[in-house]
Amino acid sequence: MPNFNPAKNAIHRGDCVELLTGWPEAFARLVFADPPFNIGYRYSGYDDARAYTDYVDWSRRWMAAATRALAPDGSFYIAIGDDYAAELRVIGRELGLTLRNWIIWHYQFGQNMRDKFVRSHTHILYFVKNAKNFVFNAGQSRFPSARHTEYGDRRAKPEGRLPDDVWNEFPRVCGTFKERQGWHGCQMPEALLSRIIRVSTNPGDVVLDPFAGSGTTPATAIKLGRVGIATEQSEEYADAAIKRLDSAIREAKAWKKPDATGWSEFDRESLRNLYREAETPIDALASNPAALACVEASLAARIGRPVHADSIVQKLRELDAANQLPRFKNDRPFRAKVHRKQDFARDRKLVRAWHLGLPAKLKKLNELGRQTG
Ligand SMILES: C[S@@+](CC[C@H](N)C(=O)[O-])C[C@H]1O[C@@H](n2cnc3c(N)ncnc32)[C@H](O)[C@@H]1O
Repeated sequence: MPNFNPAKNAIHRGDCVELLTGWPEAFARLVFADPPFNIGYRYSGYDDARAYTDYVDWSRRWMAAATRALAPDGSFYIAIGDDYAAELRVIGRELGLTLRNWIIWHYQFGQNMRDKFVRSHTHILYFVKNAKNFVFNAGQSRFPSARHTEYGDRRAKPEGRLPDDVWNEFPRVCGTFKERQGWHGCQMPEALLSRIIRVSTNPGDVVLDPFAGSGTTPATAIKLGRVGIATEQSEEYADAAIKRLDSAIREAKAWKKPDATGWSEFDRESLRNLYREAETPIDALASNPAALACVEASLAARIGRPVHADSIVQKLRELDAANQLPRFKNDRPFRAKVHRKQDFARDRKLVRAWHLGLPAKLKKLNELGRQTG
């Protein structure tokens, strides 16, 4: 099998259908695909204004090739615009995939319009190959809910809640953003990919993207300790994305290395994501033990080690002072209702018990990963 080595993090130049059908089956634990939406966008080497049936037939072909590459317990996410979301959902059913969520990614910085409402969402269809057997690392995406942060509600789960299926934490990558590559107009945010990869794969798993574009999927996969493989029809994009991957490979090593304070860049990035998701100002968080305990639990699950609440608040303040915290949409003052003292004590106890069980849980997860990997 020429030009294919799943152990390497790579962008393969060429047509995804041709390449994927020449490769072995079932090697990817996750496929993330962000195909052209057939809306007349200008790509190098690809016509994004095809006849309806031509585009739908082609979609069927590439989705079949991607499904073939998917492991029996694999997950398949497809980002798609309004015009073809329904068609791709139906093709998924024809291919025997099970839809688990129809996610709406609601982004900020949609392109301005003159005579209609600004388009500010993309559909993300989340399929699995086997409805009963798939990876879903819930702990990787829990965060404090409004029950913790707003209402001081005793029913708040100490370990936090899972995100809704409408995702509005991730702005589109616009011109001023640090991660923007600048040579590809459809770059996805790494934070969004990070959520999908962390939830639907384990370290070491293969993540496949048939439409590499700027290389966001494999670059994020590599940084998270997964193997990133992608295909891209444009030589120009592929060459530039390969450079992005090279720096991701270099960064991945430094990324997990703790500094003198014990925090690695990966830990800081995990905290930044959590902070964005919790949508709660630092002072409000610091004065809300239930919410803070939940942040402690969520962060521990994401980075694989417990960090005390005081260190978390201190780190948030440091990041804020260095202008390294994301701004969030609902940046509103904290309005806690009465949360009784015994409730705080109960939450702390539960979180502590959960923490004590963490090493065993992580071990189990690793074992599961090895068995299914
Ligand atoms: C929407 S962009 C993907 C952007 C990517 N998610 C990112 O974050 O940069 C779609 C990409 O698919 C590529 N493409 C189109 N047809 C293809 C095919 N048949 N095989 C491989 N790549 C293809 C285009 O060149 C384009 O770069």
